[in-house]
Parts: sequence; C-alpha cells; structure tokens
Amino acid sequence: MINYAVDNGIAVIAWNMEGYPQNVLNEDSMAAFEQNIDKALADAAVKGIIIASEKESFVAGADLKMLRSMLEQDSNAVTAEQAFKTSLRLNLILRKYEAGGKPVVAAINGHALGGGFEICLASHYRVAIDNPKTKIGLPESKIGLLPGAGGTQRLPRLIGIEKAAPMLLEGKELSPQEALKLGIIDELVSDRAALIAAARKWIEANQGFIQPWDENKKGKIVGRSNYKVPGGNIQSPRGAQLMLPGTALLMGKTYGNYPAQLAIMKAVYEGLQVPIELALEIESRHFTTLLMGPVAKNMIRTLFFGIGDANKGEARPKDVPKTDTKKVGILGAGMMGAGIAYVSALAGIEVVLKDVSVEAAEKGKDYSRELLKKRVSRGKMTQEAADQVLALIKTSADAADLKGSDLIIEAVFENRELKAAVTKEAEAQLAETAVFGSNTSTLPISGLAEASARPKNFIGIHFFSPVDKMPLVEIIMGKETSDYALAVAIDYTMKIRKTPVVVNDSRGFYTSRCFGTYTSEGIEMVSEGIHPQLVESAGKMAGMPVGPLDVADAVAIDLAYKVMKQTEADTGEKIENIPSGKVVKKFVEELERFGKKNKKGFYEYPDGGKKFLWPGLAELYPVKAEQPSLEYVKRRILHRQAIEAVRCLEEGVVRNPTDADVGSILAWGFAPYTGGVLSYIDMVGVAQFVKECDELADQCGERFRPTERLREMAKNGETFHGSKAKAVA
Ligand code: NAI
Repeated sequence: MINYAVDNGIAVIAWNMEGYPQNVLNEDSMAAFEQNIDKALADAAVKGIIIASEKESFVAGADLKMLRSMLEQDSNAVTAEQAFKTSLRLNLILRKYEAGGKPVVAAINGHALGGGFEICLASHYRVAIDNPKTKIGLPESKIGLLPGAGGTQRLPRLIGIEKAAPMLLEGKELSPQEALKLGIIDELVSDRAALIAAARKWIEANQGFIQPWDENKKGKIVGRSNYKVPGGNIQSPRGAQLMLPGTALLMGKTYGNYPAQLAIMKAVYEGLQVPIELALEIESRHFTTLLMGPVAKNMIRTLFFGIGDANKGEARPKDVPKTDTKKVGILGAGMMGAGIAYVSALAGIEVVLKDVSVEAAEKGKDYSRELLKKRVSRGKMTQEAADQVLALIKTSADAADLKGSDLIIEAVFENRELKAAVTKEAEAQLAETAVFGSNTSTLPISGLAEASARPKNFIGIHFFSPVDKMPLVEIIMGKETSDYALAVAIDYTMKIRKTPVVVNDSRGFYTSRCFGTYTSEGIEMVSEGIHPQLVESAGKMAGMPVGPLDVADAVAIDLAYKVMKQTEADTGEKIENIPSGKVVKKFVEELERFGKKNKKGFYEYPDGGKKFLWPGLAELYPVKAEQPSLEYVKRRILHRQAIEAVRCLEEGVVRNPTDADVGSILAWGFAPYTGGVLSYIDMVGVAQFVKECDELADQCGERFRPTERLREMAKNGETFHGSKAKAVA
C-alpha cells in the first residue's frame, strides 16, 4: 500500500496502492500513511521525510468507491458527528508531520489533485517533475465540496487570499509551470531521479524548518496567532476589500444555490483569524456541513459518476466488439454539419463533408479553418498539427466520395423528403456494415428509417449547437435499430470525446421535449400577467443558465412555431392548446417577432446597445397588480421540467434516472446543483413534489398532474436514486 525505506537518514514514504490505478485516500490508505508518518517521526535516526509515489500520478484524492457508498447510504446513516470525525482525522494526520519537527518534502511525480495536493501543501517544500500534462489543483468545489484536508487554510496562508481564490472557488487546475509561477510549487526537475535528489538536498539544507504560520514554543511547534497572510490579513483593509465584494459577486453568480463556494469563503474568513490547529477544525466543520447536505451528493452523483460512467461507454451493448470509425461521411455542411466535421477531424477521423456544391461544402470547412486558427494563435496547437486536422476534411458534392465510410451523419435541412433522398443516395455507396445516423432535431427516427434499405443500421445521433462546445450527444434508437448500430454510435461519440446518452424514439426525443417545457412555461406565465422580469430572474435564480424568454429568443420563436405546427399536423394537438402556443403563434404570424435572429422577440436588440425586454409585452399581456412570490415562479419553472422528465422515464423514452439527470444538465443546463431533473425530485422529496404538482395542476393545468407511478413512489417512500431507488420504467 505504502512503502517505507530509510536511506542515509531520510525516510521515503512512497504511495503505491495495490489494485488501484491511482493512489487514493480511503480508510486503509490513511491508516497506512499515518503509521508510516509515526514511524519516521519516532525514529531518531530519521532527519527528514520525503512523501512520494511509485505510480504514474502522485495521489489523486478521495477514493471513488468510498464516495459511491456514501451516495448509496440513507442520508441519516452517518451522523454529522461521525462525518466530522472522519474529515478531521485526515487533517490531524497531515498536521502531525507538518508540526512534527522534521523537514518534509512532497516529491510530486504526476497529478496531485484534491486531498493529494493537500498532502503536498502540508509538506514544507514541494518539488515536481516538469511535465505539462500533470495537473495540480483542488477541484472539490466543482462537485459541491470544499478542499477539506487543510486546502482552504494552507493555500491562502501560502500565497494570499486573492491568488488562492480561483483555485479554491473554481477548482482551477494548473500545470507544474503555472503552479511554480503561482508559488505553490517550489522547484521543478526533469525526472524521477532528480526529484528524489532535489528533495534530499533540501532536507539536508533545511533542518529545523517550520512553516511560516507556525512557531516553536519551548520545543513544541504550534500555530502562530499573529501570522501575516501574504497580500494582507483578512481583517486588514485589503482583506475586507476582497471578502465583501467577493461575497456579493459570488451571490450574484450563484444565487445562493451552491453552498460549497460560500462555505469556502466562510472557512477562509474564519480560519485565517486563528492559529492553524483551530483553523483546520473550522474547515472540517464546514466540510461536514457540505457533506451532510443534498447539493454535494447531487453533484457527485451526476457530474462525477453519471457523466464519468457515460463517458466510459456504460450504455454500450456489452456483446458487440469494440468498433472504430475511421471515416465518416457528413451530409450537409451547414451550421451543424460544419461543427460535426470539425470535432470528427480533431479526433483523427477522416471526413467527407458533402453538400449540394463543393463551394457550399468549402463554406462548411471554413468553420474548421477558423477554429483551428484560433487554437494555433492561442498556443494550444502547432500549425503543423492544425494542418493535419484540416487535411482530414475532404469537401465534396459527389456521393461516390462517401465510399468506405464507416458512419454517415446526415445534417441536411429538417425536411422528411430531402432526408429520405439523401439517405438512399448515400446508402448506395456504403458497405453493409456502415451505420447511418441522422442529426434530426424533431423528426422521429423510426419514420426516417423507412427510407433506409437497412433500418437496423439506422440511428439518431443528435448533436447540440455549437457542436464544438456542447458536450452531449443524444443517441436515439429507432424501432428497428440494432445493438450493433448503437455500439458504433457510442464508440464514435466516445472517440470525439463527447458524452453519449441513449434514448428511445419519441417526438422531440428526450432533451428537446423537456427543454421545450422550460421556455413554454416561461412564456405561459407572461401571458398570465406575471411580470416578464420576474419570470426571467426566477429562471436564473432557480439555477438555469439563462431566463426562459431569453433562451426562447436565442433558439428562435419561429422555430418553436414550426415544431408546434408539425406536432399539430402529426398528432392533431392544436397549437392553441399547447401552453404558450397562442403567444408563439401571435409572435410569428401577426408580429413577425422571431427572436434574436431578426432582433425582435421577447427582447429588443438595439444596434450596438444592450438588449432589453420588449416594452410592447406589457400592452399585450398586462402585468397583474398582484404578483406571485419568487418561490412560486421558480417552482413552476423547475417542477414543469421535472414532471416531463418523469413522463419520459415512464414512457421509456429515457432509459434510467441517471441518463435523465446527465442529459438534463449537459443538454439544456438544468440547474446543476440539483444533480439533474430527477435528482431534483428526490431533493424536494417525492411526496412533497407530488403534493405541489397537484396544487399547480389545479391552478395552471393538467400538464403538472403527477403520474400514477409517481404517486405510488410517494406512498411507498421510494426515490429515484439512493438506497430507496427502484426501477421505475
Ligand atoms: P443548415 O440550414 O445550416 O444546413 C443544412 C445544409 O444542408 C445546407 O448547407 C444545405 O446546403 C445542405 N443540403 C441541402 N440539401 C442537401 C443535399 N441534398 N445534400 C447535401 N447537403 C444538402 O441546417 P442546420 O442548422 O445545420 O441543421 C441541419 C440538421 O440538424 C437539421 O435536421 C436540424 O434539425 C438538425 N439540428 C439542428 C440544430 C441547430 O441548433 N441548428 C441542433 C440539432 C440538430
């Protein structure tokens, strides 16, 4: 687990956990680490300690298995007292060697993240191998936690509050060079041998070293009560200048939905006023509060495990051997096709980008040219590498060039007949094993597959705009789609480093269907006389990235209208009966307000000026004298999306609660602190959610009415996740 050797009076404590790809912190490794520290401190012949790793990385942070079991436990299985003791324990182990009287050096050979880097911060000197791929940082805040092994205390003591803030609050990760510049690494070396040699040299030269925030009181090392933090103490005018606006800025960004960032600010503020021993205890208390609350659990479950598992191909049919798309044919070089060509070529895939003319296809290739130019100018890529990527994209107007493609992605206009024609044309060139994927955003896949000579190899591969930035790909199974086609689509998605979520065919699939409820509920509220600004602010305060009216404008109101019209034609559901339908119809047919694209939507877009809500809204939909509470508007916004996701799950459109959650955050930015649409219901409490939805249904319409299955869940005390989760669909 951890090797111990003494050489020339220096103890080397080298992490090397068997059965783990990386060293991690768990009960066993912490106990072994402590034993070794005790041994080195007690041995009079040892004059210094080197903490090292025999694996490729240093120490990666908390053990995922431990975190996973924490998520599966009932929330009341661990008391706050127990959680506090566990988190303080690591702090005490680290403090032991920090105040142990012998110089300690962290020899950082690879990634040092979270608890791994906190081990380094408690050491007196940090040497790292200069490998630009190595990541150094404290990413805990990204999953709703705080760096709880002294990170919130030692980092600001080392480099000052201002410089520590981005690392603590945003979880910024640095390369060794950047870390050296910031002052959190003391020395860089070229390789492993030099690493240990440099550590030895420092120990020899620095006997009796103690941290600047410590002092030696009659042979005992204790924290100073008068330590001056670099850049100004917390109670100095400069400190106040940082903390007060910092807190306001934070609240402005998070609306109080992310307790970790606030807890970090509190831990820094309180901890920097007291000696380090007490400061560590304060930190452990804030850490415990986060651990016991729902947000960290939600974020860990979805952002860490949910996305992590999807990225590893969890949804892939296990019995289909791994496939590898080497050549992809892209039909249509418009906005989507151009982006898909870029991400494919970037992953080393040969691309044929086909449009109606070579000129049109070249226009699509220009998108890659521009993005690659940016990469090169920002130093992220060499010109040579960029040229190689570009050379992978062949533009064409000739279907014969599609020969040899393993996969086709169709991104021509959203028109059934056109899609049918290009399907036939492409298939004539393809081998039997090639898979045909459509990027349609609204047309059911099984219907489009009717044009295919081999519907088993026909699948939906739905990207989001802009393709190079959006991390999700929604993969849609048609009625006849085979496991083989699914495997090809997932393997391709993994190759281009995006997250696949698999859904079953249905109108709007999963993401568009649920996302549509966000804008439509917002619009509906405005038409009821709720102040548009209240609706917009409530959207953001509920945790959505932009307000519902703003996003409706960005996506285009006429597009929403087209989708509604298509739905009316296909299902008979009248536009007027769809919430928001009347408004959308009026905006498009009478007012010609299509959104941002014609600078007229729910907002006005003056040339060169800032957009503002269209004043005419007040005349069309007079604002009621009595406005509902902010909580009510937020609830309508979030509950509406969540109840739609429940229906998708029960109808089998989305296949499990984790997919529903991952898709909701990655596709349309559903409030990440909730862990996604269904985690949100667990957070509200299923019974409470049912009760509130019934109330909303009585007031606003049947779209809020809970399903029978949800009522049953509420009655039986079931949840979507955790130990009381049961298969729902
Ligand atoms: P676009 O209008 O920008 O591009 C369509 C392209 O297809 C044009 O360049 C056109 O010349 C080309 N085309 C037309 N007939 C063709 C043919 N016979 N052979 C080859 N190319 C042909 O459209 P956009 O926005 O790229 O959308 C394409 C598809 O992706 C649509 O099905 C759309 O619903 C879907 N989609 C769009 C999203 C968006 O945000 N725009 C998001 C996700 C999917």
